[in-house]
Amino acid sequence: MEKKIISIINQKGGVGKTTTVINLAAGLSMKGKKILVIDLDPQGNATTGLGLSNTTNSDKTIYNVLNGNKKILEVIQPTKFANLNLITSNVDLSGLEVETAGDSRRAFKLKDELTSILNDSRASYDYILIDCPPSLSLLTIMALVASDALVVPLQTEFFALEGLTQLMKTIERIKSNLNPLLEIRGILLTMFDKRNKLSNQVELEARNYFKDKVYSTAVPRNVRLSEAPSHGIPVLLYDNKCPGSKAYFKFTDEFLEQDKQVESAA
Ligand SMILES: Nc1ncnc2c1ncn2[C@@H]1O[C@H](COP(=O)(O)OP(=O)(O)O)[C@@H](O)[C@H]1O
Ligand SMILES: [Mg+2]
Repeated sequence: MEKKIISIINQKGGVGKTTTVINLAAGLSMKGKKILVIDLDPQGNATTGLGLSNTTNSDKTIYNVLNGNKKILEVIQPTKFANLNLITSNVDLSGLEVETAGDSRRAFKLKDELTSILNDSRASYDYILIDCPPSLSLLTIMALVASDALVVPLQTEFFALEGLTQLMKTIERIKSNLNPLLEIRGILLTMFDKRNKLSNQVELEARNYFKDKVYSTAVPRNVRLSEAPSHGIPVLLYDNKCPGSKAYFKFTDEFLEQDKQVESAA
């Protein structure tokens, strides 16, 4: 089975989800893969980080799909980067949970819409990457129901692993109720500082516990990664030689290698 719908997920904020979505999308698209990014966070950081607007005067947003106003193919927008399309988000999305309270099938809305994309020859994506909000609310449940697999960024700091317990419980619950084939594709260590004892300790614990689910790439703390979003471009294009870029190029290769292994095993 193809595993092409991937959510980048962690209910903690500021752990590198959006940075990972933007730069994995950039890395994959630079390798010729056709990518759709879905910004599922009302903050719209993936939207602006890829050069589009997260103001509320556009109706081409994921909000308008999830509330039933638009079909998903109507809201896909090009970015200025080849092979990379985007569905934007803005603060309107924060109202969805209350507005759809009466709809008992709402958890399946994103999955149903994505199924229609996968069956449409006008939208032949190699990967659909979903940038999740920092919560375990309806939006995250929608992403978990719609996804084939998950990438979990893990900030190498104190309490990082404690935070994962709750996420793992939620994933198990979704697997037993709504999406039995959901799997964790990998855990990506972020904001790693090799001179910091704590970073090394968190890495050790994560690798001990999650074994080969932890990518061998660890993304270092690098100020270039925090500068790039204000220019609306992935760091891979902003400064392709900085340590952050090197890490995300390596991560892209590791990500693609996972599918090669699956193909050759099949
Ligand atoms: N490896 C890194 N080094 C330095 N800054 C980073 C790194 N990864 C992310 N950042 C910055 O940290 C902040 C939070 O990252 P972000 O990707 O937005 O996290 P999330 O989406 O999980 O909330 C952003 O300002 C981002 O630019
Ligand atoms: Mg984010």
